Amino acid sequence: MAEIIDGKKISTELKDEVKEKVAALKEKGIDVTLAVILVGNDPASTVYVGNKKKACEYTGIISKSFELPEETTEEELLKLIDDLNKDETVNGILVQLPLPKHIDEDKVIRSINPDKDVDGFHPESVGRLSIGAPGFVSCTPAGIIHLLKRSNTELDGANVVVVGRSNIVGKPMAMLLLRENATVTVCHSHTKDLKEVCKKADVLVVAIGQPRFIDADYIKDGATVIDVGIHRIDGTKKLCGDVDYESAEKVAGKITPVPGGVGPMTIASLINNCYEAALMQNGLM
Ligand code: GUN
Repeated sequence: MAEIIDGKKISTELKDEVKEKVAALKEKGIDVTLAVILVGNDPASTVYVGNKKKACEYTGIISKSFELPEETTEEELLKLIDDLNKDETVNGILVQLPLPKHIDEDKVIRSINPDKDVDGFHPESVGRLSIGAPGFVSCTPAGIIHLLKRSNTELDGANVVVVGRSNIVGKPMAMLLLRENATVTVCHSHTKDLKEVCKKADVLVVAIGQPRFIDADYIKDGATVIDVGIHRIDGTKKLCGDVDYESAEKVAGKITPVPGGVGPMTIASLINNCYEAALMQNGLM
C-alpha cells in the first residue's frame, strides 16, 4: 500500500506560511491584492473563482472581483486589464479561463503585464521559466513541485516521466523538473510504448485528461505517482483522476489521491505567486 501524499494538508501548510508573510508585509504598510476577472457564468469557473477568493480571504490577501456579463466585448476586457496593469494597488491579475468564444484568449493573456501574471500563462512568463529567470510559474506544476519536495521525494538525478504536454501543465512541469536536476521524459498521444516508458519512472506525473488511464501496469515498484486529472465518475457524484487509484496504490511508493492531491495545491501556489508579486513590485525580492 502506497503512502498517500496529502495535498489538502500540504496546501494548508503552504497557505499558513503565506498568511504569516502577508501579515508581516501588512505591518510594513504593504497590502497584497489580487484582481480576479470572471466573464460569463460557467458553473465550474464560478466555483473555481469562488475558491480562489476564499483562499485570498484565508491568507489576508485582498481580492478585487470583476464579474462581467457573457456579452462583454474583447475591447472592454482589454481596457479593464490595461487599467489593472496601471493600478499600483493591484499586484496580481487573474483572468479565469475559458473565456466566451467571441474573445481571443491568447490576446487577453498577452495583455496582462508579466509582472502581474500570477497564473504564469503569458509567453514572457513561460520564456522566463525556460531560461531559469525570475517570473511566475503556472500554478498546478508549481504546486506539484511543492508536493514532491514536502513529501521528501528525491528529484535530483531521478527519472521523471510527465505524461501530457499541455502549455499549462505538461510543458512547464518538465521545465520545473529540469530546474530540480531530474532527468525528464515528456510523453504524449504519439509516444510509442507508453507503458514501458512510464515503467522506468521514479516519479510519474500524469496529466492526460482521461479517467483512470494509468494503472499498476505502467508503474515501477515504489515509484511516486502524481495524478493531475479530475473527472466525475459517470452517473455518480464521485471523482476520479487520470490514474486508476485502486490498482496503482498497490505498486506505487507514494501517490496523490483525487480529490485531495494536486487540486488544493493549485490554489495554494496562486496565493504564493500573489505574495511574491507584491514582494517584487515593492523591491523586496
Ligand atoms: N481555468 C482552469 N484552470 C485555470 C487556471 O489555473 N487559471 C485560470 N486563470 N483559469 C483556469
